[in-house]
Amino acid sequence: MNLYYMILAGGIGSRMKSPELPKQYIKVCNEPIIVRTVRNFEDFGTFRGGVICCPVEWIEYTKALLLEYGIASSSVSVIPGGKNRNNSVKNGCRFLNKTFNIGEDDIVLTHDAVRPFIDARIIKDNINAASEFGAANTVMPVYDSIIRSSTGDFFNEHLKRSELFRVQTPQSFRLSELSNLINSLSETELENYTDVASIFADRGYRVKLVQGDDSNIKITTPFDLAVADTIVKNRP
Ligand code: CTP
Repeated sequence: MNLYYMILAGGIGSRMKSPELPKQYIKVCNEPIIVRTVRNFEDFGTFRGGVICCPVEWIEYTKALLLEYGIASSSVSVIPGGKNRNNSVKNGCRFLNKTFNIGEDDIVLTHDAVRPFIDARIIKDNINAASEFGAANTVMPVYDSIIRSSTGDFFNEHLKRSELFRVQTPQSFRLSELSNLINSLSETELENYTDVASIFADRGYRVKLVQGDDSNIKITTPFDLAVADTIVKNRP
């Protein structure tokens, strides 16, 4: 079994309101977010290859950053992302299939570029769960009560908190199955699914849940940058 990682960095981070620099390139304590993310996978060590899917106009910039921060390796490639996250996953799958001789059991960990605090325990648990069950999703329990409101104005339904989880990444799969599934989706389906594990669940696959971590945040807004700064500064 070979292992691969796919870093999804194809977004522009509109909610960050940093039009000049997509959020994955913003520095947290002197290091770009995407560099921290990739370093965690490179440091883990057992991956045969990695692919970073980023906006086409940022490819050369991303390659230069990897060199500058000393994490460029022959096994990590930078390729164009797609027009939505699932299209970026699709491009990443196409690249891995064409570059490596993929076996039936090979596993890929797909991870948001903007979750720089992924740790070795989460990576290891994803590998184990995906190799045993074929699909894995990293989740956290919810701490707030969650309600459903179809319009956002009035209360529709109370949901049972103990059955609800927040989805983080990685989401990890047998690469052959991920490639088949993602290639079978229409453009509308690719647009509408917010994450790939949901596609597996909808198609009847069992998706094993892996425990995430409070620090495995997705950096989305300026507030999250302040949180990220605090996480780095308070590390043991
Ligand atoms: N992503 C991607 N390809 C896209 C869109 C998003 O690979 N076409 C990636 C982002 O770069 C990010 C991850 O998916 O690492 C999670 O998406 P999100 O946080 O929503 O990022 P953005 O789309 O960049 O942010 P926003 O929705 O605020 O524009």
